[in-house]
Amino acid sequence: MRELFINTAKKGSKINKNIYGHFAEHLGHCIYGGIFVGKNSIIPNMNGIRTDIVKALREIKAPVLRWPGGCFADEYHWIDGIGPLENRKKMVNTHWGGVTEDNSFGTHEFLDLCNQIGCEPYITGNVGSGTVREMSEWVEYITFDGISPMAQLRKQNGREKSWKLKYFGVGNENWGCGGNMRPEYYADVYRNYQTYVRQYDHNKIFKIACGPNTDDLHWTEVMMKIAGNYMDGLSLHYYTSPGGPKGRGSAVNFERSKYYETLQEALRMEKLIESHSIIMDKYDPEKHVGLVVDEWGNWFDVQEGTNPGFLFQQNTMRDAIVAALTLNIFNSHSNRVVMANIAQTVNVLQSMILTEGEKMILTPTYHVFDLYKDHQDAELLDSYVEAQEIGVDGFSVPDLHVSASKTDDTIHVTLVNTSDSESREILCRIGGASAKSFASKILTGAINAHNDFDNPNQIKPKSFDDIKMAENGLCFTILPCSCLEITIKV
Ligand code: AHR
Repeated sequence: MRELFINTAKKGSKINKNIYGHFAEHLGHCIYGGIFVGKNSIIPNMNGIRTDIVKALREIKAPVLRWPGGCFADEYHWIDGIGPLENRKKMVNTHWGGVTEDNSFGTHEFLDLCNQIGCEPYITGNVGSGTVREMSEWVEYITFDGISPMAQLRKQNGREKSWKLKYFGVGNENWGCGGNMRPEYYADVYRNYQTYVRQYDHNKIFKIACGPNTDDLHWTEVMMKIAGNYMDGLSLHYYTSPGGPKGRGSAVNFERSKYYETLQEALRMEKLIESHSIIMDKYDPEKHVGLVVDEWGNWFDVQEGTNPGFLFQQNTMRDAIVAALTLNIFNSHSNRVVMANIAQTVNVLQSMILTEGEKMILTPTYHVFDLYKDHQDAELLDSYVEAQEIGVDGFSVPDLHVSASKTDDTIHVTLVNTSDSESREILCRIGGASAKSFASKILTGAINAHNDFDNPNQIKPKSFDDIKMAENGLCFTILPCSCLEITIKV
């Protein structure tokens, strides 16, 4: 019997709901053929946006959506994506498959999408190949209500009132696809560009600077030192890619050794957050600058037979476990991590949703976000689970991993059993309160199990009734390769 302890007396930071955020790029079939099918499609849509996808994202309370990239952001010229469709310029999406981008999904369509979902828009501007003026005018176009050339243009395009735009990224991966800059150079470029990201009327913009790739601590150091006073957020990108770019392996056909390797790689997220946070703490001890993990998730080989530039991969219980572990980590660092955006929403990398024509399936990763949604804006609680290291072939991970939070009189617990084959008996004790009632759901399956278009509900959360009240808590057995959500009224 392992002990799980939740201390209601020791409260931590508020878990920013934006930790449960998303990212949609003009890449493969994420936007076109995924989210956006056009007004004339036979697939049910509102203004060209698929209604089933909107419904699914509303269901998990998607709080924020990042767009238009990714690498695409630094070659995107927003002015080409507004106005009458027939006048919109076509361009080549050089990063992602060299396909033609017809700009039919632009600023108006994106802000409509966010409105339909009920989430905050997070726009990333073009630093790599754009100008200061272009970025400045985009913000003016979206957020300014007075008399100005951009406000006028917006009105001509059918939108009288400005939109609210809170989150704005000044470039993406400017150490790589966004211009191959050195941090010393980008820090100054950032200071320059962000000056003209104006705060119009009552629209207060939270400015996000391009942060480090994985463990590039030097980038963080330079950015915080030179530009720390000019930003509200610093991004971090980390993908779980076992074996590296040359040997990522299949998203579905993998052995248990690869399973444990993937989990071990995913758990690196904790060390990364800690080491970047140490530097941020040095320059910003009061934590004015938030860490924004605006790209994370599993990156495997593309599905055979699909365009290599489209990054389409299936999604299994392994992905669900990685999502669950990562979200637990974000919760526990919510005093610094203020937003995270899994890559990507539909049909790309670790997707929430996959589509094939009019069919749509929810992935195991989606179901984790569903199980975890009550953590959004809740108060982090101190929690501890007695875990042991397990694994094969030298790969090692803790067998149990937990996060707990509280809203009013309700405790939310998310517990992961990473073992691919063994259950664990748990005695859950609650300090400082007594459980009055509880409800629980579980997501479980074999490590390779997944949903597909013929069998869309193979993996989905089920109600979990095998829990007994014990003195000061609860007693239950958590199944292998599973993620359990327990709601406890105290
Ligand atoms: O998410 C796919 C790509 O990964 C993004 O465009 C880029 O920012 C990152 O390298």
